[in-house]
Amino acid sequence: MGSACGGRSSYASGGAELYASLGIEGTTYEIGFEAVRRALGDIRGQVFLDFGCGAGRSAAFLRSLGAGRVYGVDRDQDMIGQALAMRLDGVVFTHVDEVIPLPDESVDGAVSLNVFIELRSLAEMGRACREVASTLRQAGLTVTAIGYPMPRDPSAWSTDEALLSPCIVLTAVKA
Ligand SMILES: C[S@@+](CC[C@H](N)C(=O)[O-])C[C@H]1O[C@@H](n2cnc3c(N)ncnc32)[C@H](O)[C@@H]1O
Repeated sequence: MGSACGGRSSYASGGAELYASLGIEGTTYEIGFEAVRRALGDIRGQVFLDFGCGAGRSAAFLRSLGAGRVYGVDRDQDMIGQALAMRLDGVVFTHVDEVIPLPDESVDGAVSLNVFIELRSLAEMGRACREVASTLRQAGLTVTAIGYPMPRDPSAWSTDEALLSPCIVLTAVKA
């Protein structure tokens, strides 16, 4: 899937297509998405930022929870290509390079699912959090970083919590 390229993960060479075919159910991600659903509560009608939206799965997830509009941003052009191909209603996907092209205080909430595992330093994580925080309308930001050690063979994936390290939910507060 994602391979290291110049210190960054890259989803070229079929990685983005593979990611687009994953889904949530039956994958090791399932527990994490469920934890996020519980953490978010009722988001019906809200405007959300999906930072590191990948091939569109997490944006589709937010819409399935009732988000009224989702802005999905990602730095990987192949992932954005896959996301756009989903033609998701109520979602705007944009390729980004550091700066999120949304006005300050323009979204009700933000998530970042399975992304921070790809950020290589605290400085990079800090930049991302500040950028995300600037888009929020109000205090209270849930940035969620989930990461599991994933077996390479999808048939070995498990949704058994006993076999997985706990997912991490980071909650940061807008200053
Ligand atoms: C493992 S994928 C997760 C995609 C999606 N959130 C999901 O759960 O299906 C991680 C994504 O984060 C993106 N990403 C990593 N660092 C980023 C950054 N600094 N800015 C924007 N996107 C980033 C990668 O390009 C990749 O598409």
